[in-house]
Amino acid sequence: MNHNSSIFIFDFGSQYSHLIARKIREIGVDPILCSYDISISTLRNKKPKGIILSGSPCSIYDKNPLLISKYIFRLNIPILGICYGMQLISFLFGGTVEKSKYKEYGKTNFIIENSSNELLFHGIPKNSVVWMSHFDEVKNITKEFKVIGHTSSCSIAAIVHRTKNIYAVQFHPEVSHTEFGVFILRNFILHICKAKNNMRLNNFIEKSINQIRKTVSNKKVILGISGGLDSFVTAYLIHNAIGNSLHCIFVDTGFLTKREKDNMSYICEKMDFYIKIIDARERFLSILTGITNPEVKRKMIGKEFISIFQNEAKKIKNVEFLAQGTIHSDVIESFPNQKNKRKKNFSIKSHHNVGGLPHSMKLKLIEPLKELFKDEVKKIGSKLGIPKDILYKHPFPGPGLSIRILGKINKKRISMLQKAENILMQELKRSHLYESVSQAFIVLLPIKSVGVMGDKRTYENAAVLRVTKTEDFMTANFSHLPYEFLEKISSRIINEVEGINRLVYDITSKPPATIEWE
Ligand code: XMP
Repeated sequence: MNHNSSIFIFDFGSQYSHLIARKIREIGVDPILCSYDISISTLRNKKPKGIILSGSPCSIYDKNPLLISKYIFRLNIPILGICYGMQLISFLFGGTVEKSKYKEYGKTNFIIENSSNELLFHGIPKNSVVWMSHFDEVKNITKEFKVIGHTSSCSIAAIVHRTKNIYAVQFHPEVSHTEFGVFILRNFILHICKAKNNMRLNNFIEKSINQIRKTVSNKKVILGISGGLDSFVTAYLIHNAIGNSLHCIFVDTGFLTKREKDNMSYICEKMDFYIKIIDARERFLSILTGITNPEVKRKMIGKEFISIFQNEAKKIKNVEFLAQGTIHSDVIESFPNQKNKRKKNFSIKSHHNVGGLPHSMKLKLIEPLKELFKDEVKKIGSKLGIPKDILYKHPFPGPGLSIRILGKINKKRISMLQKAENILMQELKRSHLYESVSQAFIVLLPIKSVGVMGDKRTYENAAVLRVTKTEDFMTANFSHLPYEFLEKISSRIINEVEGINRLVYDITSKPPATIEWE
């Protein structure tokens, strides 16, 4: 195995060192667990992408403390210290470590400092549960560092070096009781160290096809296909596993863009799996008329989808499973209340395919991509040889334009938004910007504003242009588009779409905003 360019875990004898290695492996990177006294020259030769300093049963103030050479801080390799690792980093830089007043062991609330905008904590709520297990703690840090998190009894629970990629946390992100521990490790490994997570995807296709075949046996599966990458990759895997026992259903909710419809026609023409198209436009419009609360909307949509799928399942004999293209971020943000005991207030939004599923659903779920993030699904799609048009298509949410029409939903407002979307797509393609951004769309606001066109006063709808750049859709930045492009879009939409007289550009990242507005 080539160990170059990997993540090195310096083991200081912690009971959790192997757990750190396992968690990193789950992220898809092959780590090296080595003794803390590995020589600097060996380390240099191995060219690590990052170093993690583990916890330890020992103390910095033991007679013969377990130390490392300060020289590693000069190698410009990102470092994450965990527990003793944090104390060690602070100590080597001249900070002080002392016995804590109380030995802290167990779950505690961790609060990210307001001023902190660290990559390490991207996508993590300000307040979350972490696992502590320590008797010493950092009391003072030197001026090279700043505090980025605390708990009620530990005022220095996370620190970062002001100019180097050196991070440290007093708690244990590798322990599953730390709610967002995997996120912290993932942010460090993939985004700070920029290690490649290819390992997890090795054999994924083969393993998942075998698993599907075993689970389904001689039964049949229906799959809600949307034309997006996730459901398409899911269809591909299941079709490979069970052939024509897969029945795909495409629901035309009436909340689709022209591009989504064209895409579906393309899929129907090119692919050899069976796809039935259900026209549910009137159904969806009637259930959503008068609904403005985003969560209610999402739940109603989820329920309606399932009702259609169950109806279709009855028409085909032997259907026992409903397959969905659910990915990991859908699950994290939805926290389905039926299976997950987490508190409701952690839920961000109920993705129609997760938190929106009704309790009464009889079909069993098959979700082969449930553990993967979007960038990983793309890699799998690419391995499967999925057409580029689908691989690089911007995602489109199952609830479609319904969650982009804030306020009253009616045919006129749907059509307004469809026209605006169409212009946006034409211009993105024309200016070759489509592939350099991750998702672009228009949101119709529930407010009107005054304008003037052709010397006449207008009082029409305001709309928002939302364009983001992201890898995994868990965090995102707004795209820095050229002003000429923004001007063109604004001018075309205002001139060509009757009913919209103002366009604003959303310059919020995720977090604190989400990508969609509802
Ligand atoms: P948010 O708004 O949560 O969006 O930042 C992250 C990504 O998920 C998509 N999204 C959905 N996709 N059903 C879907 O299939 C949903 O209910 C849903 N809600 C959001 C969103 O378009 C973005 O790509």
